[in-house]
Amino acid sequence: MSDVKQFTYAELEDHKTRKSLWLVIHKKVYDVTAFLDEHPGGDEVLLEEAGRDGTEAFEDVGHSDEARDMLLKMYLGNLAPSEASKNTTTAANGTAQSGTPAASPVRFLMPLIVLIAWYVYRQYFA
Ligand code: HEM
Repeated sequence: MSDVKQFTYAELEDHKTRKSLWLVIHKKVYDVTAFLDEHPGGDEVLLEEAGRDGTEAFEDVGHSDEARDMLLKMYLGNLAPSEASKNTTTAANGTAQSGTPAASPVRFLMPLIVLIAWYVYRQYFA
């Protein structure tokens, strides 16, 4: 559990070739070397993301659950937290990924609107 390995982008630098190809998806590091020739999307796209954050490229394609399951076999460890904001192709989402988006004013006021509607209904129709 606590022995999950943590990687920095500097360490990934040595794994950007066909001989050894690592990339980051959702802050996790994967070794896709053996998968290069099997990837239905081709090896080029994987080589392009070598050693960096391929999250956006991976998500843009809309990979299936099956594809996501395949990642489990390639999992090496996590990206060190200090690296989170570096090399990301998803700058806007680089931080606070686990947080929910801020509630919009309409969502915030919804219970109040429902309450007022109920009150008005009671006044006039009950
Ligand atoms: C390393 C993790 C990856 C895995 C395990 C993976 C796996 C797969 C799988 C299983 C498919 C077949 C369709 C599906 O089931 O969704 C697929 C298709 C595809 N992948 Fe990936 N993929 C990975 C990374 C990437 C990346 C980084 C890109 C970058 C753009 C990419 C681009 C594509 C494209 C374009 C297709 C569509 C191929 C087609 O239908 O013509 N994949 N991938």
